Amino acid sequence: MEVVRYGFAFMEALLNMLEAGSPEWTLAATLDPQRIPRHIAVIMDGNGRWANQRSLPRVAGHKAGMSAVRGVVEHCARLGVGALTLYAFSVENWKRPRTEVETLWRLLRFYVDHELPKLAQNGIRIRTMGRTDALPRDVARDLQRCVTTTAANRGMIVNIAINYGGRTEIVDAVNQALAQAKASGNLETLEFTEDLIQRNLYSRDLPDPDLLIRTSGEWRISNFLLWQLAYTEIYVTRTYWPDFGLCELLEAIQDFQKRDRRFGAVHRDPVDASAEVVDDLLGVPSR
Ligand code: FPP
Repeated sequence: MEVVRYGFAFMEALLNMLEAGSPEWTLAATLDPQRIPRHIAVIMDGNGRWANQRSLPRVAGHKAGMSAVRGVVEHCARLGVGALTLYAFSVENWKRPRTEVETLWRLLRFYVDHELPKLAQNGIRIRTMGRTDALPRDVARDLQRCVTTTAANRGMIVNIAINYGGRTEIVDAVNQALAQAKASGNLETLEFTEDLIQRNLYSRDLPDPDLLIRTSGEWRISNFLLWQLAYTEIYVTRTYWPDFGLCELLEAIQDFQKRDRRFGAVHRDPVDASAEVVDDLLGVPSR
């Protein structure tokens, strides 16, 4: 999947749009435009607590959370992020009260309905990941309309994880690979490799996220992108999702840009240890 190019032009446009000297402008000006994460994933947590703090029903928190989604999609597109994956509803979220689940569907359909023209106009591509065939029919239909309408766009990908679970994604990938092998008569020679699993994930044509943001201060992955997060940088903020705006996003990216990503490798050892020195340090007989 082709993702948009990022860099100086995006940052220049963003800085021009912001008020010079404002907190957002100051933060944006510290960022390296060439190291904007290509793919950001978000666990949008804390809607309920945000509402509770204000003595409002939980659904008011979800409504405010949806406004935050609108803002973050816009800011990420302006920053030149290539893909944004949002955890909207997990396979475990069916355990919530029925009215809350139904409100989430209504909000999602409202978002899709009202935002689609603007998203399409801005070149955004909407995608979904998860067991969407088990969603209420009207929700699945509206989401599919959104995916189809924006499929030919060339801008940022907004990937909505809905009825999603990291474990179910891996199970579905394995079953899909098996079914394909059966259908093509290759079952005998089927061998599972990382590449085969990767090619059957819901997110098969997206790069793994560079940055995972989790709001509301919980240090958990919550069954999100278990395969894809292997080398993702994790950023946790105490801010509740409805309060997560441009400043908070820029802070997360600033923190990301300070990380030293080694992907399991090491930098060259400044002290070159000869084989003898290593044997001596380990206290084992020389080879
Ligand atoms: C977690 O907060 C949030 C959710 C389970 C739902 C997220 C959904 C939205 C923000 C609405 C629409 C989404 C899109 C993509 C349009 P919580 O209820 O677990 O909060 P708590 O931990 O404080 O109770």
